Amino acid sequence: MELIEGLYTRRSVRQFTGQPVERELLLEIIKAGTWAPSGLNNQPWRFAIVQDAAVRANLAKLTKYHFVIEGAPACIAVFIDKSLMYHDTKDHQAMGACIQNMLLAAHALGLGAVWLGEILKNAEAVRALLGLPEQMELMAVVALGHPAGKSHTSTRKDLADVLLKEL
Ligand SMILES: Cc1cc2nc3c(=O)[nH]c(=O)nc-3n(C[C@H](O)[C@H](O)[C@H](O)COP(=O)(O)O)c2cc1C
Repeated sequence: MELIEGLYTRRSVRQFTGQPVERELLLEIIKAGTWAPSGLNNQPWRFAIVQDAAVRANLAKLTKYHFVIEGAPACIAVFIDKSLMYHDTKDHQAMGACIQNMLLAAHALGLGAVWLGEILKNAEAVRALLGLPEQMELMAVVALGHPAGKSHTSTRKDLADVLLKEL
């Protein structure tokens, strides 16, 4: 898939078939995340793969989008390692790039994925559930699977509405 085509055809996918996601694909998606740019190349991202049904059920309880996690055969929780940070804004920008790379990689591999942010209201509970140290701060949960049904449509503002100036 051409990069530009993948970028425009990626959609958030919230419904999945029950088919498990091969571990190699999950690792490929994480690897794509790690190839995002980061300030000073500090690579502050860390990841936890969750496929276990019982753990997923508990994870699902921590977001109003519980149906997405319940239906997704795999989730990747994405953390920032606070001990590696050097600049709050820049490190968070790097995390966004990382997560977007993951979504695009999932799409390129024929999988569906969605970035779940609402669960951040329970970031501490997610960290505790996964048994991770305090320096790991949750940035998102990416729910993944083989897409079920047609992909949703989405819209964007016109360029004229977002382009502030052209000098
Ligand atoms: C920071 C962030 C948080 C998001 N949180 C959620 C979420 O909690 N639940 C959800 O279903 N989608 C979530 N999304 C996905 C957006 O709803 C989606 O990207 C947007 O509606 C555009 O649709 P598209 O991705 O299909 O183009 C989130 C996206 C971002 C970037």
